[in-house]
Amino acid sequence: MGEPTMSDDLPQEFEEEYYQINSDILQSFNKFRPPLNIYRFREDVGRIILYYKVGERLAKEQTEELAEMVDQGVIFVSRDDHSVYVKHISHQLDLVLLDKHLLEREIADIFQIALTRRMQAFFEQPVKIVYDKVQEDVFTLTEYLWQDFSRIKALARRRHADHCLANHSVNSGFTGLLLHILRLAGDYNKEPKNRQPFDRTALGFFLHDMGMSKVPAFIRDKTKPLTPDERQKIQTHTLSGYEMIARLDIKYPEMENCVNHHHERVDGSGYPQHISASGISDIGLVCAVADSFCAMTSNRPYAKAMDPMAASKALCDDSKRYSTEITNLLLNHMVNERR
Ligand SMILES: [Fe+2]
Ligand SMILES: [Fe+2]
Repeated sequence: MGEPTMSDDLPQEFEEEYYQINSDILQSFNKFRPPLNIYRFREDVGRIILYYKVGERLAKEQTEELAEMVDQGVIFVSRDDHSVYVKHISHQLDLVLLDKHLLEREIADIFQIALTRRMQAFFEQPVKIVYDKVQEDVFTLTEYLWQDFSRIKALARRRHADHCLANHSVNSGFTGLLLHILRLAGDYNKEPKNRQPFDRTALGFFLHDMGMSKVPAFIRDKTKPLTPDERQKIQTHTLSGYEMIARLDIKYPEMENCVNHHHERVDGSGYPQHISASGISDIGLVCAVADSFCAMTSNRPYAKAMDPMAASKALCDDSKRYSTEITNLLLNHMVNERR
């Protein structure tokens, strides 16, 4: 992955209007027909000029010249093309940590797009090399959050409306982190000391359903009610996930707790081990609430999405099965969001 370069000679006002692009971003564009206008900074005249107009086609020589100029750090796109740009910046997520001009909600969009694409890739091909990419992106997110925990609020608002495995994983990742941070930090200001468990817990929330990749897609995506046999197949996903953790050689207890415990319930009515409150890890209790909340508030083939406030209340009322400490944090957060 190439290091982003910033031209030292670029006047400040240009940086507010334009994003500089690097070779990773350029490579994510269609080579001959980039999806947005491209500008070039001409040092000799101290001005930004239009180099490529969207809709036209670049000649082969121009694509080579453009690649060279990107390496020199003189190629830009306009901030007016934000919606097109965020899709592309998501291909090199660490730029989010460097770009001081992006707004919090723009960054939330970028994380959502990037992490959903990564999770999709992982569910299609759940192998180590793809897992490593997921981990890299999730750790970019935790780095971003570690600088300021209140940033989780903008992310937690970015929930996909429709259910699919990748969307659900990202929704659960953001919601799990919200609850975990509220639990750790209370008012977002008290800073826990230990970074490593935070990173690994985040991974666990995103990957809690990793074992679903072993469930045949026709069962996973079925729009009609499941047969008892199919339901039983679905329920093997926690065990499959546990086996995958070993196969991928992931040695994080936080991941194991999320995968193993997110379907266990406080009264012992969950699965796979039917353990009750004292046996369920704290992270598992958080993951269970995040998982159920995200399922309830997304449109599934067999049920319409519930309103987030109603879903939080329903979880609070279900104190036999869910930790009241966690469901109260969720409900309080929803009440604060409505204010
Ligand atoms: Fe699950
Ligand atoms: Fe889940």
